Amino acid sequence: MENALQYSRDNFDRSVTELIDFLKIPSISTNPESAPDVRRAAEWMADHLRSLGIQKVELMETPGHPIIYAEHLVDASAPTILVYGHYDVQPPDPLELWDSPPFEPIVKNGNLYARGSCDDKGQVFMHAKAAEAFMQTSGTLPLNVKYIIEGEEENGSVNLPAFLNEHKDLLAADVVVVSDTALFGDGVPAITYGLRGLSYVEVTLTGPDRDLHSGIYGGAIHNPINELARLIAGLHDDDHNVSIPGFYDNVVPLSDDERSTFASLPFNDQEWIEDVGVSKARTAKGYSVLEATTARPALDCNGIWGGYINDGAKTVLPSKASAKISARLVPNQTPDEITDKIRAYFEHNCPETMTVSVKDLHGGHGIVVNTDSPAMSAASQAMEAVFGEKPYFTRTGGSIPVVADFKKILGLDTVLFGFGLDSDAIHSPNERFGLDRFQAGIESIIRFMQIYSGK
Ligand code: BES
Ligand code: MN
Ligand code: MN
Repeated sequence: MENALQYSRDNFDRSVTELIDFLKIPSISTNPESAPDVRRAAEWMADHLRSLGIQKVELMETPGHPIIYAEHLVDASAPTILVYGHYDVQPPDPLELWDSPPFEPIVKNGNLYARGSCDDKGQVFMHAKAAEAFMQTSGTLPLNVKYIIEGEEENGSVNLPAFLNEHKDLLAADVVVVSDTALFGDGVPAITYGLRGLSYVEVTLTGPDRDLHSGIYGGAIHNPINELARLIAGLHDDDHNVSIPGFYDNVVPLSDDERSTFASLPFNDQEWIEDVGVSKARTAKGYSVLEATTARPALDCNGIWGGYINDGAKTVLPSKASAKISARLVPNQTPDEITDKIRAYFEHNCPETMTVSVKDLHGGHGIVVNTDSPAMSAASQAMEAVFGEKPYFTRTGGSIPVVADFKKILGLDTVLFGFGLDSDAIHSPNERFGLDRFQAGIESIIRFMQIYSGK
């Protein structure tokens, strides 16, 4: 293993150059025009894995973007890990807020800037580089590895559950390993043991059957924008609890133990407040920022539109008003249940002067994984060796819906072994990945593979 670690250090510059090539491909899964580029990214990664000497590498077709399946099986008596990641990225908009173009990666002050550098191409690539280090120094891997690298994570992984169901035997493993989450802070290692789920809807209120002159009709028309604003304002009470009936019915409460662990984590509310540029946090009454952003549910409006929004004034009463609304869920809320409750809220409160439609965009289950397992302890030892301190066990507010599916469909627990930072600006302009963390990730994965192999 020492040879593999040394190899990864000696070949670091080349690894960064290769990652830059991968990041140049604009694999935006939510954008239909990008489909050829999404496929090109899949082919690039598949070719790369082949070049490392991985035994079997295939692009497996789905009704959407292809899934890369790869495997390198060395010994039937050794454990098998299933590495999951995604090669698709979020759209880069708004482009004008990037300091350099999103698909022209550059290194600045030790960070690699590009869309996908952290989420998730850079983190997927760490797994390839860890495998390469073993292959080049010992001609084999210390355990059996299977990879599924998908191209639709940012689009809700819509075709992945069916894929898991169809390929249960192929995907048989002891544990899933995912590098698509964050450290607790710079240099502060963490293993994530909980993810939130998601319900995502688009709501449209329709009033008059066309836009109307606001001088001729204003005063006698119930305005859909005004009304949508009122309904959105009614989603929370004065203590910032969600006021949709039944929203909290199935929430597993935080235990006293978990709350005291949260309170002991080195999290500074004031730094957080300054970082996001607000004067004060707004959590549901009684909950800390860390609890509210990772272990309690949340409901937010993500976008709102209607009427006239271009330069200057146009005197118009809108026919329609729309909003995108998402809920972050915790165990045991389910996306269907919460989507139904959001729908019922809008339908029940829609005035008789207009109609409402609530479209289900996508969703996913939240999960809390078991922290007491050989794989977790191997991950913890690996991180401790690289970072010089034991990782904290933390929950994140983000969602990776397939993690719940791994448990439900394949019966597998997941180790969330991520090396991002919340400040890496994933999904935002100027997304970046610290090159020190890219290297620390490669070394942690090498150590994890060795320790978990039991050799
Ligand atoms: N890698 C993220 C999830 C994540 C974000 C983990 C922040 C830890 C911290 C993933 O790619 C993602 O963006 N997921 C989406 C959900 C998906 C259904 C679009 C999310 O959380 O919004
Ligand atoms: Mn991701
Ligand atoms: Mn993402």
